[in-house]
Amino acid sequence: MIDLDNPQTLKKNDRGEMGLRLSELPLQCRTAWQIAQEWSPPAEYREVDSAIILGMGGSAIGGDLLRGLVSDSCPLPIFLLRDYSLPHFAGSRTLVIASSFSGDTEETLFAFQQALQRDCKTLAISTGGRLAQLAEGSAVPLLTFNYPPPPRAATGFSLVLLLGVFYHLGLIPDPSPDLEEGIALLESGISQFREEVPTSQNPAKQLAEKIQGRIPVFWGAEHLHPVARRWKTQANENSKLAAFFEALPEIHHNAVVGLRFPTDLAQKIFVVVLTSNLLHPRNLLRVQVTAEVLAKEKIPYQVIEVLGETRLAEVLWGVLLGDYVSLYLAARNGVDPSEIEVISQIKKRMAEGWR
Ligand code: F6R
Repeated sequence: MIDLDNPQTLKKNDRGEMGLRLSELPLQCRTAWQIAQEWSPPAEYREVDSAIILGMGGSAIGGDLLRGLVSDSCPLPIFLLRDYSLPHFAGSRTLVIASSFSGDTEETLFAFQQALQRDCKTLAISTGGRLAQLAEGSAVPLLTFNYPPPPRAATGFSLVLLLGVFYHLGLIPDPSPDLEEGIALLESGISQFREEVPTSQNPAKQLAEKIQGRIPVFWGAEHLHPVARRWKTQANENSKLAAFFEALPEIHHNAVVGLRFPTDLAQKIFVVVLTSNLLHPRNLLRVQVTAEVLAKEKIPYQVIEVLGETRLAEVLWGVLLGDYVSLYLAARNGVDPSEIEVISQIKKRMAEGWR
């Protein structure tokens, strides 16, 4: 087990330099915003009445975060597709954005080709690969960026490029003031969470110590629900940990009943509830009620109030904290946070054929 207060051993364990990638989140956001600023949409792309974001895993999360941020203000319904086939309604008045870091993810490519055939208003976000080739070959707008893998470490690009696209299409107000606030918060968050800060002063290390040896369950409402998803997927991929996420208020209608069995559940799980003053007041009360239920059932938990004056800043700060927690959980589990051999094996196996 790696000592979280020894930055040298921490960094040695982090063979793919995930810690470095996390510290670059502010830079990613700035670079992505510059790229988006240089893009202007074809006029007909404004004539759409729905949007579908295609993507898998680390390239899909930007779409979830975007939807959580803007769905109550954006005039278009926004759908996420993590699968092969477009919904029946998708057609020439549908904006379809394919997001794939590698550009070679088969589910995303399949749905993207369908969107081209159906004459959707199609757009691609990628570092290259087949997706970039297809976009260029079909004269479809392409937003590219250069950044080292793994894809899940490029959240700044996957979220901020989408924000830029929605802004340039006139679907959301200029997010740059909120982004500036978010970037400043990320910078101060990094100075608190980074490897050199000892556990006694580092909230990310403290939370990792509490979760260590347990199955984390992440709960969040509204714009924090996709942040809870991000915490779960980062615990899976970076820390190689079984982890789960769910949404408030839905948990008050089922999950809260399932806290009694197995009888040693309180020794097995740790619940993290994400909260913010920007939530609907009834959801804020629900966070409090959730804590009461967990305390009654003697389930260990922590309520985390995300920092920020705006939703965007809160989401960025929340993602950063979760990412650092997953980095320290990886160290505690003695695993390289960047290694995802099983995902690579599955992709290889799937590429072998349709058997
Ligand atoms: C890897 C990761 C994965 C990938 C996913 C899709 O870091 O997070 O979840 O993001 O397999 O691949 P891309 O992003 O290349 O489309």
